[in-house]
Amino acid sequence: MYKLARRAEAKKDPLMARALEIGKEEFCGLPHCNPANGRKLLTAVEVGSNGFPTLKQTTVDAIEEDFCKLVPTQGNDRTAGCGSSKQTFSLDAGTETRDQAYEERADVIAGAIQLAFHDAGTWDPSKTNKGGMDGCACDLKEANKGLDYIKELLAPVYDKYKSKLSLADFWTICGNAAVKASVPAENAPVEVGFKYGRKDVDCTKCTLAVADRLPNENFSADHVIEVFRDRMGFSQTETVALMGAHSLGKMEPHNTGYAGKWDRTFALLDNVYFSQIINKPWERFIVDEKTKFEGSAPYQTDHSGNVDEEFKHEWRVPGTNNNQPFQDSTDKLLNTDMCLAWDIGNADDEVNSDANKDCITRPGVTEEVRRNDGSCVHGPQTKYKTMANAVANYASNQALFVKHFVAAWQKLMELTDSTLVEVGTAQSSTSTSCTDQVSSWMADNGKTCSWAWGLANKCNKDATWTAAKTCQQSCYDAGAGYSGDNCAALVLEEDTWEEA
Ligand code: HEM
Repeated sequence: MYKLARRAEAKKDPLMARALEIGKEEFCGLPHCNPANGRKLLTAVEVGSNGFPTLKQTTVDAIEEDFCKLVPTQGNDRTAGCGSSKQTFSLDAGTETRDQAYEERADVIAGAIQLAFHDAGTWDPSKTNKGGMDGCACDLKEANKGLDYIKELLAPVYDKYKSKLSLADFWTICGNAAVKASVPAENAPVEVGFKYGRKDVDCTKCTLAVADRLPNENFSADHVIEVFRDRMGFSQTETVALMGAHSLGKMEPHNTGYAGKWDRTFALLDNVYFSQIINKPWERFIVDEKTKFEGSAPYQTDHSGNVDEEFKHEWRVPGTNNNQPFQDSTDKLLNTDMCLAWDIGNADDEVNSDANKDCITRPGVTEEVRRNDGSCVHGPQTKYKTMANAVANYASNQALFVKHFVAAWQKLMELTDSTLVEVGTAQSSTSTSCTDQVSSWMADNGKTCSWAWGLANKCNKDATWTAAKTCQQSCYDAGAGYSGDNCAALVLEEDTWEEA
């Protein structure tokens, strides 16, 4: 079922119902609420440069657990392969029920991964508006329409935590949890490094110029290199590893005009995507959207109601039934997937040119073959040989792919102008509104905000100093020196807590 259809029936979608339930729950975690006794801090909490307080590991873990409650599995254990569950998700039996379970699972995990990529993928350090992870996967771009479902699903969950962290940090945590949950059993578990501090932007002000930085599937290798290497700073190998995310999820006509999946194990972050690129006999296919749908294409339209693009260029494997050689349900690849291993024309105007219209790829072909009738068989990608080598390496070594993907993923999630710090550590640059937040205890004792921040930093950096028990809230936030002794007494003196 298309995500769009399920979304239209949000009340009937058990995942959406679960998300709404989660959103209604209250989270008791530092610094606003002390989980040891459930008491809430009534005074203002000091915030760091992204407008949020020091993020605690307990909060990160709780978000991951809640995300995992939205990841369906085949069995009763809703959290298998996700969060604290030690079980891994397995792909057995090829039944309809299984396919349905995969669809639902993929909608969440692939959705969360694509969402985080579309937030990060606008990164351009050469521009004033650098984009990157900033809590805005802007809807102005048609490729982002497919994110509506996951955005809506995650919104109530974020509500539960919105005083603790930015949306960009939240999406990153969900994306990380999705990556961990997607890794095949034989390569699990994986650790995905995480730092926090991403600052959100006002997404209602997003511009097409920024949204348009996302890659265009209609182009080819030169474009992939321009986007990933030249703009975002990834190596060719890292780029290919990241493209392996297309091992998950699907394309939907209402979003992008494509329909289908890259492979059949679309709920697993495995290397089938790569082996298919190399080993299947791909044929170029042009979908004339208007003709195919008799003038009423169900595909994405622009603001005036026109079909954005009449022709979609994609790669399909011919079916066994000669009357219907290509099916929407068969595996598909986009130009930007094919070009990683095949020389399908690297330049934007070359890849979809009429000269290439009748060209195909065949496993094992080592050079381009042009026939008299204009048809041809493309040879392997040689301009960006490192990319082609990476496809071959990942196709034969799944563990290597997973390892490289996780490392490149963390790098992708760290494409931001904000300064990121370890969880539990105060952000170095702090908000200027601090002077408004001097507590009565600080005022009575002649203490200013700069004293408080100095103290916070010292607490975080110097464990022996905190042992002196001269504590205040920032130390407490940092998890240092709180043991119900003098330090705790001081915390209660300087901050107002809800009566027990
Ligand atoms: C050249 C680069 C890329 C292009 C042109 C591209 C294009 C696309 C397109 C057209 C879709 C189908 C969307 C729809 O119909 O709703 C898609 C889906 C997806 N993309 Fe990419 N993509 C690229 C790179 C990436 C990267 C680097 C990642 C993550 C690291 C990623 C993750 C995904 C995921 C997980 C889906 C499936 C979403 C779902 O099923 O909900 N993509 N991509």
